[in-house]
Amino acid sequence: MTLPHSPSARPAAHRTPSSDRWLMVRKFLKHGTTIASFSPSSRFLSRAVVRDIDFDTAKVVVELGAGTGPITHELMRRVRPHTRCVIVEQDPDFCTRLRQKFPAADIVEGDAAHIDRILADRGIRHVDHVLSGLPLPSFPAHLRDSIIASSTRWLNPTGSFRQLTNMPWVYRGLYREYFYAVAFKLVPLNLPPGGVYVCSGYRGTITP
Ligand SMILES: C[S@@+](CC[C@H](N)C(=O)[O-])C[C@H]1O[C@@H](n2cnc3c(N)ncnc32)[C@H](O)[C@@H]1O
Repeated sequence: MTLPHSPSARPAAHRTPSSDRWLMVRKFLKHGTTIASFSPSSRFLSRAVVRDIDFDTAKVVVELGAGTGPITHELMRRVRPHTRCVIVEQDPDFCTRLRQKFPAADIVEGDAAHIDRILADRGIRHVDHVLSGLPLPSFPAHLRDSIIASSTRWLNPTGSFRQLTNMPWVYRGLYREYFYAVAFKLVPLNLPPGGVYVCSGYRGTITP
């Protein structure tokens, strides 16, 4: 169950602990493409993911592939008591760390491919925003299709699917195959330079 976040419970300004960096490096060396990054997202990139979300109206925000939680951190700083957040991460060690950092958050140790069931279990029928840190381009096409389809199925018409990347613009064409509208926000201060695809208007799956 997600508990509301009172302002006093919000995390302070973000500095990536070296223990998070080491955990990410270890996971990257062990699992490679399912982690896809040897370092947690910077605060610049994490802020860009949540910037311009209207938290006055957002009732449900889902994060997929939270890792050590840099985006979760920015999310928790901004959410209002009326916003439910569901944070999905498949790696148990990352989940342990997320629960230590965000004890009041709904951290789900599970596969983003099962987002349908995760939301149904919580009685959630509408989602305002999906924040994805998943390395979707390196997933098999059918898995990427299935995750995008099942997470956007619940999106409100004004909602967004936000995908972070460390390869600016490269996958714009890919996301345009899934969504009618794809904007890209460049974050040059991230190392390497990164950005966020803000997608809306789901077209349908692209694999036959
Ligand atoms: C590139 S890292 C991003 C981590 C974090 N969001 C960040 O910005 O630093 C990708 C994360 O997605 C997680 N992941 C990969 N496949 C997943 C899946 N099918 N379901 C849930 N999480 C997954 C990995 O364990 C990893 O934590």
